[in-house]
Amino acid sequence: MYRKLSFLFIAVFLLAQCTQEKKGSNSKMDSFIDDLMSKMTVEEKLGQLNLPGAGDITTGQASSSDIAKKIREGKVGGLFNIKSVAKIREVQRVAVEESRLKIPLIFGMDVIHGYETVFPIPLGLSCTWDTSLIEKSARIAAVEASADGICWTFSPMVDIGRDARWGRIAEGSGEDPYLGSQIARAMVKGYQGDDLAKNNTIMACVKHYALYGAAEAGRDYNTTDMSHQRMYNDYFPPYKAAADAGAGSFMASFNEVDGIPATANKWLLTNVLRDQWGFGGFVVTDYTGINEMMDHGMGDLQTVSSLALNAGIDMDMVGEGLLTTTQRSLDEKKVSMAQVDAACRRILEAKYKLGLFDDPYKYCDENRAKTEVFTDAHRKEARSIAAQSFVLLKNDNNILPLKKSGTIALVGPLADNKENMPGTWSVAANFSKATSVLTGLKEVVGNQAKIIYAKGSNLDADSSFEERAGMFGKALGRDKRSPAMIIQEAVNVAKQADVVVAALGEAAEMSGESSSRSNIEIPEAQKDLLKALLKTGKPVVLVLFTGRPLALKWENENIPAILNVWFGGSEAGYAVADVLFGDVNPSGKLSTTFPQNIGQVPIYYAHKNTGRPLPEGKWFQKFRSNYLDVSNDPVYPFGYGLSYTNFSYSDIKLSDTALNADRSLTAAVTVTNSGSIDGKEVVQLYIRDVIGSVTRPIKELKGFQKIELKAGESKTVSFSITPEELKFYNYDLKYDWEPGEFIIMIGGNSRDVKSGKVNWVK
Ligand code: BGC
Repeated sequence: MYRKLSFLFIAVFLLAQCTQEKKGSNSKMDSFIDDLMSKMTVEEKLGQLNLPGAGDITTGQASSSDIAKKIREGKVGGLFNIKSVAKIREVQRVAVEESRLKIPLIFGMDVIHGYETVFPIPLGLSCTWDTSLIEKSARIAAVEASADGICWTFSPMVDIGRDARWGRIAEGSGEDPYLGSQIARAMVKGYQGDDLAKNNTIMACVKHYALYGAAEAGRDYNTTDMSHQRMYNDYFPPYKAAADAGAGSFMASFNEVDGIPATANKWLLTNVLRDQWGFGGFVVTDYTGINEMMDHGMGDLQTVSSLALNAGIDMDMVGEGLLTTTQRSLDEKKVSMAQVDAACRRILEAKYKLGLFDDPYKYCDENRAKTEVFTDAHRKEARSIAAQSFVLLKNDNNILPLKKSGTIALVGPLADNKENMPGTWSVAANFSKATSVLTGLKEVVGNQAKIIYAKGSNLDADSSFEERAGMFGKALGRDKRSPAMIIQEAVNVAKQADVVVAALGEAAEMSGESSSRSNIEIPEAQKDLLKALLKTGKPVVLVLFTGRPLALKWENENIPAILNVWFGGSEAGYAVADVLFGDVNPSGKLSTTFPQNIGQVPIYYAHKNTGRPLPEGKWFQKFRSNYLDVSNDPVYPFGYGLSYTNFSYSDIKLSDTALNADRSLTAAVTVTNSGSIDGKEVVQLYIRDVIGSVTRPIKELKGFQKIELKAGESKTVSFSITPEELKFYNYDLKYDWEPGEFIIMIGGNSRDVKSGKVNWVK
């Protein structure tokens, strides 16, 4: 008893101490900023809200450019996408030596999935279902970026994406709010670490707030419109999770929400983000987000700038509307000085927390830049993480793994290309250092097997499409010969081989920003290549590159083995070889549903039942919710992914069938590796709330565990479920659970599950 009491006493004492220290450091920060702001003119305050585009200024230009003049005048708060310590140091010097108040700049960059060491695109990363790996990738990105002068990243992108047409689905974690929230948290932790002031942590910027992934028709920047029910239950959770994890900043999205562009949406930026979620950091617009409101039809530049400030925007990316019009709006009382002060204070707080007032060159250590970027250790991690992001979609007759012997034909427009491997949004990547599949395969097999290569087809028959899909130095190079000749060459190569590996699909810029597609199939020219290869009678393995779920009905019916490798990053070529040859057993699971055709989109596993559901296993029934020409099923469901081994699931065991509010339920299955090699499996927990005051999804992911099982080994995997997992936002947007019957499901994907029932009373 005495021991317990003294324990309690020490704990209370430590807590008080901690709170005091926190208060102490906050009040130190507050008085520092009070003092600084008391010296600032209105123009200097507005300067802090300004984030102009610097372009990629060359060294030496930084102190003479137009931007430098503005920095000297105190009209710039930060800059973004400038690469290298030398350039950043030079610009920072202008700020802290030549401006009146010597306020340091904040340097941001789109460090989206790695810096120079590039990890898989976020959609690929999410398929690892391994939050510690994802956190590690963000940690390495932060180490490299901060070693090169960057202290702020425009990541994580946590927009839920349920429309495969939308190109930016590549940049997020897929369709599910639960998985998306876990990943959002992991990334914020990875970037920010436990202390933003350390020189190897960077500030996260959660984007694009909000609902950007729900653009109508999947067309980028398009209108979104949805019920608050859906917002709160399906789209908001990852943003909230990132805010709860302490993310330092948020970025407003381009789209409108409830008829008002997010950039001017006070309900979104202030009522929800600050008042309901308690977010205390700053909010930046997206690129020219304020100016674009003129095209949205919200008024002239002064009007839209004041709308943005009034709504809760603190920093203006590129457009300079806040800088150039706010004085007028103050004079006309369209905005208040208190609002300008609040925004300025939040920017200064961010700089303070990053430690820039202590040392503005904190992130400018040339030695770190030389020794901590694109290191062997980082590349090794990237290779391993990439291999774990790949999803084995099909593997008839165990064609994979390949033997490291005989002759292997490698064909396809993406087989011998480095530039596309890092994928979209790899701003800091050095493309020449990325590894192609051809190089990866050759290095991994050495002289044990012969690799022969032919391109086989262009990316697309239409050269102008290929041009649009090959931007930013990622053009695949067009083969001017006739398609028949290019295919014939590949067929000849295939005929000499024991097995054919076809590396094809989308080029890197066929997904990402402004890369929406109305056709989500593999381009016809490449399908023609696949058909010709199949005709040779040789076993064909499709190594599929893509930044979105593709419609793979024909491929699934005809190609014996399909390995989806997304865009695996700078080490993708090696990782592809590691998995093809079985040095790594694939364990990725889809974080988005793969439809049969474009007409099924949006398609996602957590849909509602409707009043006319189709009985399970059925296709067409008149007056039921289905299509005449295609079943409701996807080709590959959410959570799906094969392994080179097999996992079998026992029936589910529930600790209770009836429970009270204060109890928790244990749900368990025994998973057995029934194959002959070791492997990893993602065991997934889904729950269905059978009856609700509002309609509920037919299943919702509520937990997952990635386990490792030796060949022949069995493990019991159990989940502890509490009423917390049953909560949702009801019609009045109250977050609570409702008593009644729940179906508890566990399985290796969202379709194939073992289930049991429980009755939970309040
Ligand atoms: C994108 C953002 C990005 C910003 C800065 C915009 O076009 O929507 O995601 O962070 O540019 O590069």
